[in-house]
Amino acid sequence: MERRQFLRSSALAGAVLAIANKRAWATSADSYIEIFLDESNGEISPNIYGQFTEHIGGVIYDGVWVGEQSKIRNQFGIRSELVDRMKEIQVPIVRWPGGCFADSYDWKDGIGPVSERPVRTNFWEVDGDAARLHEKGLQVFEPNSFGTNEFMRFCKLVGAEPYIAANLRSLPALSFDHWVEYCNSPARSTTLAKMRAEAGFSDPFNVKFWGIGNESWGCGGSFTPEEYASEFRRYTSWIPNYGVGLQLIGAGPNGNDTDWTHRFFEEIFTEHPYHNTSFMGWSIHHYASNLSRGKTRDWVLGKGDALKFEPADWFELLRECDRVDRIIADQWAIMGQYDTQHEVKLVVDEYGPWYREGTELDPTHIFGQQVTVRDALATALTLDAFNRNADKVSVATCAQLVNNINALFLCHEDRFFTTPNFHVFKMYAAHQGAQSLRANFSAPDVHYDRDGKPASFWGLNGSASRKGNIVTLTAVNSDLSRPSQAQVALRGATIARCAGTALAASDMHAHNTFENPDAVKTAPLDTSISGGFLNVNIPPASVIKLEITLG
Ligand code: AHR
Repeated sequence: MERRQFLRSSALAGAVLAIANKRAWATSADSYIEIFLDESNGEISPNIYGQFTEHIGGVIYDGVWVGEQSKIRNQFGIRSELVDRMKEIQVPIVRWPGGCFADSYDWKDGIGPVSERPVRTNFWEVDGDAARLHEKGLQVFEPNSFGTNEFMRFCKLVGAEPYIAANLRSLPALSFDHWVEYCNSPARSTTLAKMRAEAGFSDPFNVKFWGIGNESWGCGGSFTPEEYASEFRRYTSWIPNYGVGLQLIGAGPNGNDTDWTHRFFEEIFTEHPYHNTSFMGWSIHHYASNLSRGKTRDWVLGKGDALKFEPADWFELLRECDRVDRIIADQWAIMGQYDTQHEVKLVVDEYGPWYREGTELDPTHIFGQQVTVRDALATALTLDAFNRNADKVSVATCAQLVNNINALFLCHEDRFFTTPNFHVFKMYAAHQGAQSLRANFSAPDVHYDRDGKPASFWGLNGSASRKGNIVTLTAVNSDLSRPSQAQVALRGATIARCAGTALAASDMHAHNTFENPDAVKTAPLDTSISGGFLNVNIPPASVIKLEITLG
């Protein structure tokens, strides 16, 4: 259908709907969702469905890398089951090698013959979680068996774009240039290209996405914003390009630290103007880590438990994750004061609920934690926020893929299972590359007791998108006990049919284990169409997806 014809028919359908609405909204439904087909704020970048992998605990070693000699099914040393499952959810981009690890990593240690690679002390050796390890194995003393070549192989097997975080704190800018040269210089061109070819990779890797440091306000150098701006200029003024179209990502604030962003952008755009067309992204890290309900600001004491929690903790976690919407709005507004054309987009390259230690599957899994249906809702509402902000967020990577904070997969040695988060990513994959649509959710708030005081949280929220004649609606019902009787109206189109999916559990602590890997999984969700509306009974504590075919 022509765009003009589409707009005309959508306006007509909208008018019909508006009239029909008055009658239909008066049914037994208690929640209403309106999707506006002619109101889009752009394409949802597939790259917001990315993943993050760091050399920490069980992420790379045990998670991604099992080694070529392993009895565990692998391709070139990479765990095959992980690759297969990542393909299922169409992971578009993977960030590596950190995290904090990145700023103490020398990429040259991770190339060349594996037997000749040096063993180094891993950044996370300093962490209290590493202290519990009796055997100070490869989680503490990095063997460098997994380096640039192996990471590229991993990305290729998965079909994902590589996103490398460069070391800004402890390596010179020239070393960064050389890393780009190793990855991207044409076959047979440079000495580094020849070294790459000797490892079996004649063709360049063509890595586009490069992070200029990580958390440069903290583990990445404890810089001031002005100092970081100066480093950023130094590291990015010249980088070999080879026509790859580099996409450079600056190390953004800690949570919603507005001062960091103000001062960096002021330096780069106003004080000492520096225009670099490759500067495309400003990173945000948002962990929901303090669940103390305002009782402490202590990083360790403020953490909650992944498995033992009360209803108030359920909502506290969702509320903390939901802050991402405000962070996106605040950071975007500040950036726009300096970068008035918004050439720089947001890159949320670490996010997720972060609990205290104690639920990791193996002592070597530093920051490993179990993932319940609560975390699935938290992940889903975060992805919905990214979808709604399609014009602002261009990349996002979940921290972290496997055996870590908000993992999609948990495994140890030859045992492996998917967490509820995997199912969320599978459901939400349909949004990748679709047009984000405005959707209005109108539903009662949920009320609960927050340490003796009444508190509330939204009952239903989500996002919608359109690809061809399919509209995808995803939503979260945060209520622990009440289903949401929802009625869905499409403004500007008619509904031909709908397929629903739900991820729900009657116990808020439900999670998958080696013994019961399918305790939390998706199931079909019934929907009906009447009077041009879609009716759906959304289970309590659930994430749902509706795949609506337009008439
Ligand atoms: O994801 C774990 C750590 O959290 C990352 O290494 C760091 O960037 C953040 O503080």
